[in-house]
Amino acid sequence: MSDSTSVLDHKGLGATSRRDAWWLSPLLVFLGLVAFGIYSTWAAWQGKFYLDTVHGADYLSPFYSPDVHSLLGINVPFSYAFLILWIPLGFRATCYYYRKSYYRAFFLSPVACAVGEPAGRKYKGESAFPFILQNIHRYFWYLATIVVAFLWYDAIRAFFFTGKNGHLHFGVGLGTLIMLLNVIALTGFSFGCNSLRHLVGGKLDCFSCSATARTRYKLWGGVTILNLRHMEWAWVSLFSVGFTDLYIRLCAMGIWHDVRIIH
Ligand code: FES
Repeated sequence: MSDSTSVLDHKGLGATSRRDAWWLSPLLVFLGLVAFGIYSTWAAWQGKFYLDTVHGADYLSPFYSPDVHSLLGINVPFSYAFLILWIPLGFRATCYYYRKSYYRAFFLSPVACAVGEPAGRKYKGESAFPFILQNIHRYFWYLATIVVAFLWYDAIRAFFFTGKNGHLHFGVGLGTLIMLLNVIALTGFSFGCNSLRHLVGGKLDCFSCSATARTRYKLWGGVTILNLRHMEWAWVSLFSVGFTDLYIRLCAMGIWHDVRIIH
């Protein structure tokens, strides 16, 4: 690590004067990411039960959106989720917040502030391969925004059900609300991104010198509001996307019946 912690480095992993439960946060991050990783990998491998059409619903799992199979009519010899999931995976893996979290929880580098890491480590930052690749985060933001746009379409589409006469009618099911909350959470996470903050407000010396600069300042302020709670948005959206898949999957399998609030 940096010079300020080099003394602790020599004392090895876990050496610290801290008396609080510094280990709790990395432990929870470890458990949360492992649990999500196992579930999402399993759900992605399934390749089925990702679309619930029971009783006229049209609920598409976020793991499989956009529905490449329907949109492009192509067949692939593996789960369609794999055509999509590399985008949110790359977006989250290169996110500044997640980087801090998993460097601590998985690499123990360092495990927490003012806590020693494994002896003999040399801190190189993210200036060399492979961690220099984290700089592609901005480009993953572009791709993730396209996915979020499709998820908004899916959530709006979930307000319409196919009746017995084959016509669409407005309605609200519990699944509709879950999909809506999920895309709101994902939007809050994506649009609080540090890269977007730099994109709209960076490289400006004066925020008030022109109409464009003032507009950019307002946009920067909006992104900053979301950015202040980026960690919370990151976790809420991570679990909401997993829960949304689970709900739709259970409905599609007939294990759970969607509750219709407005028919
Ligand atoms: Fe977290 Fe960009 S910094 S999504």
